[in-house]
Amino acid sequence: MAISRSVKDALGSSSMIRRMFEEGNLLRKQHGADKVFDFSLGNPDVEPPPAFHQVFLRFAQEDAVGKTRGVHGYMPNPGFPAVREALAKKASREQGVTLEGSHIIMTVGAAGGLNVVFKTILNPADEVIVPRPFFMEYKSYVGNHGGIVREVETLPDFNLDLDAIAEALSEKTAAVLINSPHNPTGRVYPAATLRALAEILSAQGKKTGRYPFLVADEPYREIVYISGGTPPVLSAYRHSISVTSYSKSLSLPGERIGYIAVNPGIQDEEDLLSGLIYATRVLGYVNAPALMQRIVAELTEESVDVGVYARRRDAFKTVLDNAGIPYAEPEGAFYLFAKAPGGDDGAFVNHLKQYLILGVPGSGFGKPGWLRFAYCVDELHIRASALAFKKAMETW
Ligand SMILES: Cc1ncc(COP(=O)(O)O)c(C=O)c1O
Repeated sequence: MAISRSVKDALGSSSMIRRMFEEGNLLRKQHGADKVFDFSLGNPDVEPPPAFHQVFLRFAQEDAVGKTRGVHGYMPNPGFPAVREALAKKASREQGVTLEGSHIIMTVGAAGGLNVVFKTILNPADEVIVPRPFFMEYKSYVGNHGGIVREVETLPDFNLDLDAIAEALSEKTAAVLINSPHNPTGRVYPAATLRALAEILSAQGKKTGRYPFLVADEPYREIVYISGGTPPVLSAYRHSISVTSYSKSLSLPGERIGYIAVNPGIQDEEDLLSGLIYATRVLGYVNAPALMQRIVAELTEESVDVGVYARRRDAFKTVLDNAGIPYAEPEGAFYLFAKAPGGDDGAFVNHLKQYLILGVPGSGFGKPGWLRFAYCVDELHIRASALAFKKAMETW
């Protein structure tokens, strides 16, 4: 066999989201793009803010006239020092702790950042506790580095089930991985929940001598609809690491830019920071994209217009309400997690397809009986789907 068994197996169970993407393309070819209500992909369609284009242009012009030198070369693996300083200030404001540039590692998106973190902290067969439902790529990001995902249930409203997490903790637990605002449920974990989780993890550390890391995957941090924003993780728990990106907040997923913020005073701080830098290098990233690093450092106050997503969310809620499909109230991100009427998410997703509506079965996130709709599509298109949803429900 030319390829590894593990990759062969992975290809066999290829991501549901990818499969829906391919089906969407086929349906668009058959029926025309405007007839297909494709809510399967979380690919932001909102353009980056104007400030992005201005900085991008300025850098290109300065470059063209030879004003800047060496900016496209190799750099220290964790990124340009000035960029790390700028992002440390931003992260300090958001996280309620004081970070230095040395606590920031620039990454190839959040996906790259999570791989760097797990490469650095996992020993073979170490466990990473992940509340269900979850972004399925986590299994690969943890598995890539010899770890095992230990799934735990969440509460009926998809908030963290702290008892379930406490029960799953063991000496094998290297980390708890949380994601807020959450894909696919839109849940934002309240500050009180994070503090209570911190107490549980601290008690575990005191008991075993190994403090589980709290790894917060936060690419949706800025896309939040509730007052007070996304509560910080670093100020809640000493042994926490935030991984974020500009894929959603600046709509730059293709540019692959993000960063890791490490809590000052975290256990084995120096080793951990050196490990993250080493992992960035040997995983083959070498460093995060240079031009994007320089651009995002200038845009620390910018984000896409969250109001656009808020209006789409409201439009989608109306569509589902009118069709009689229940869903979890989204507090952030750009997903609606809906209950599959009758309970069979696969069958319901197939039924919707006949009405040219595409969503992703909850089974693809470890939560059968539910399905995810991504509202990275125009508000008018969402409104236009109302009739199709209604008809689909009449025949279900
Ligand atoms: C929960 C979650 N984590 C991580 C990622 C990866 O993001 P990035 O593009 O920054 O690598 C995604 C992408 O959709 C996501 O939904």
